[in-house]
Amino acid sequence: MVNVLIGCTGSVATLKLPNLIQEILREIHGSKIRVVVTEHSKHFFDPKDLPEEIDIFNDKDEWNSWQKRGDEVLHIELGKWADVFLIAPLDANCLGKLTSGICDNLLLCTARAWELGKPLLFCPAMNTKMYNHPLTAAQISTLKSWGYTEIPAIAKTLICGDTGLGAMAEVADIVCAVKSVLERV
Ligand SMILES: Cc1cc2nc3c(=O)[nH]c(=O)nc-3n(C[C@H](O)[C@H](O)[C@H](O)COP(=O)(O)O)c2cc1C
Repeated sequence: MVNVLIGCTGSVATLKLPNLIQEILREIHGSKIRVVVTEHSKHFFDPKDLPEEIDIFNDKDEWNSWQKRGDEVLHIELGKWADVFLIAPLDANCLGKLTSGICDNLLLCTARAWELGKPLLFCPAMNTKMYNHPLTAAQISTLKSWGYTEIPAIAKTLICGDTGLGAMAEVADIVCAVKSVLERV
């Protein structure tokens, strides 16, 4: 049994979340999935398109679930629950925040409190012009220096019509990368 926490950010590649979940459940036997989302990522999927048993957590859940001393802190509990954290897609905004330690939402708090000994994989996804900014490579290399695994962006014609690097890796390749990281732990 393996607990997979998927993080989704405000990239259009979050459209692939239903497919990503379906493939993980199919390819990683015994996997249980939870999803942590940013507010902007919610624009890109309908929870009704996900299997009923999948719990989705957002910033409101973090604050609603803590009322008094002794209550569980959601971003800590999610980190304890998960064996692997897959941030797919990781947009430019969360990439920058993650790199500099900012944790102003549930997803980023979970990442900031993530135990470095456990696998964290990330899939950058952004417009080519954003991707080509020198900050992107520098920030990706910072995440890798902490032991996180990059599933590199690919080149294609993006939804905005631009062609070039920056699209999220294909779902099949993401699932393959998660499987191979899990085989090593
Ligand atoms: C339709 C649409 C698509 C977007 N796609 C991306 C994307 O693929 N990558 C990215 O870095 N930002 C993208 N953005 C911009 C982010 O949504 C924006 O930076 C937002 O503040 C991210 O918030 P979050 O990181 O808290 O989810 C897109 C915005 C819109 C309106």
